[in-house]
Amino acid sequence: MEIMGIITIANKNFWKGKKVLITGHTGFKGSWLCLLLNHLGSDIYGYALEPPTNPSLFEEAKIGKLITSYIGDIRDYDKLFSVIQKIKPDIIIHMAAQALVRKSYNNPLETYSINIIGTANLFEAIRYTSGIKAVVNVTTDKCYENRERLLGYREDEPMGGYDPYSSSKACSEIITAAYRRSFFNPKDNNHVTAIATARAGNVIGGGDWADDRLIPDFIKAITKGEKVKIRSPYAIRPWQHVLEPLSGYLILAEKLYNEGTKFAEAWNFGPDDKDAKSVEWMIKTICNYWGEDASYCIDKNPQPHEANYLKLDCSKAKNKLEWLPKWNIEITLKSIVEWNKAYLNGENIRAITEKQINEYINEILTDDRE
Ligand SMILES: NC(=O)c1ccc[n+]([C@@H]2O[C@H](COP(=O)([O-])OP(=O)(O)OC[C@H]3O[C@@H](n4cnc5c(N)ncnc54)[C@H](O)[C@@H]3O)[C@@H](O)[C@H]2O)c1
Repeated sequence: MEIMGIITIANKNFWKGKKVLITGHTGFKGSWLCLLLNHLGSDIYGYALEPPTNPSLFEEAKIGKLITSYIGDIRDYDKLFSVIQKIKPDIIIHMAAQALVRKSYNNPLETYSINIIGTANLFEAIRYTSGIKAVVNVTTDKCYENRERLLGYREDEPMGGYDPYSSSKACSEIITAAYRRSFFNPKDNNHVTAIATARAGNVIGGGDWADDRLIPDFIKAITKGEKVKIRSPYAIRPWQHVLEPLSGYLILAEKLYNEGTKFAEAWNFGPDDKDAKSVEWMIKTICNYWGEDASYCIDKNPQPHEANYLKLDCSKAKNKLEWLPKWNIEITLKSIVEWNKAYLNGENIRAITEKQINEYINEILTDDRE
């Protein structure tokens, strides 16, 4: 085993004391990001609706006590603007969204208004607020025109999106590019704001209770003593632990802050190719790690369209940001089992989440990661 070193996931000296606004801080990824930034010593602010699930990581880990939390709708421009004016953040990470594909089939208009108008509202508020240096708009791997090919998509490939959620995120990408060209143009020296987008894969981790997502469905079924029902067993997705893209967003935001518009473009943050696995592989493996007779069955009812293949080519982030995936899929699934068993045993949720953040940050990378 050759030790390659500790990968920097975020620079503590940089993040200490930085004023960071997270939109969507009450959600799954937002809650992990609050705890990660708290670990790094940032001054954290949030703007979002109430937590989208009950239970939620936000409530269970008592995140409201660590940050300044504003509850508001991203579609309410006046409220959003007044909060941003009050905070005057150094950095914004935009994650507030209707984030579920199936919900978008049931309520496309709501999805479009939150994900599209919400993005435009945010950039409009940023345009009239001085001092914001870096903005990362979090979209998704699903924003690409999916041609069902085996190769990963690169950042310069066309936007598309089959369903309302995916296409709303493609629109959010297009709006970001339009605002960047029109109001935050690299050629224009009158502004200081560098804005980028980040496209991550299927994010998993402890503390996700959303509907119609594979791992939360597994945990909900197991706690009821039922078999989890899976759809699209052969569909391949770029699964990754939630800390993987979050570390990418932080490395990107730091570059935007320090080096400005040079990094103000789109970035993919996905797992290594070998970790893009099928739905059935994922569920078999987590059942095996869980033990206790965990099992699954295939739901044969007709389902809305889902892509068969979706992979990201992340060579740009690896080369230019020196970001690397750190936890492979096996470590990720074991960490989810550990987190959920701790939750079911009534352990302290802030403590288990912070322990995993610590392990992620301090783990030494070797040449034979398993
Ligand atoms: N979870 C994934 O697998 C995944 C993958 C790729 C990209 N993303 C993106 O990452 C971001 C976070 O995803 P998540 O999984 O944490 O979602 P989530 O549903 O857990 O959280 C969504 C957050 O957005 C807030 N929100 C929703 N509607 C709002 C509105 N009208 N006004 C203000 N706030 C609102 C919610 O209150 C919550 O804080 C989203 O932008 C999502 O599209 C998620």
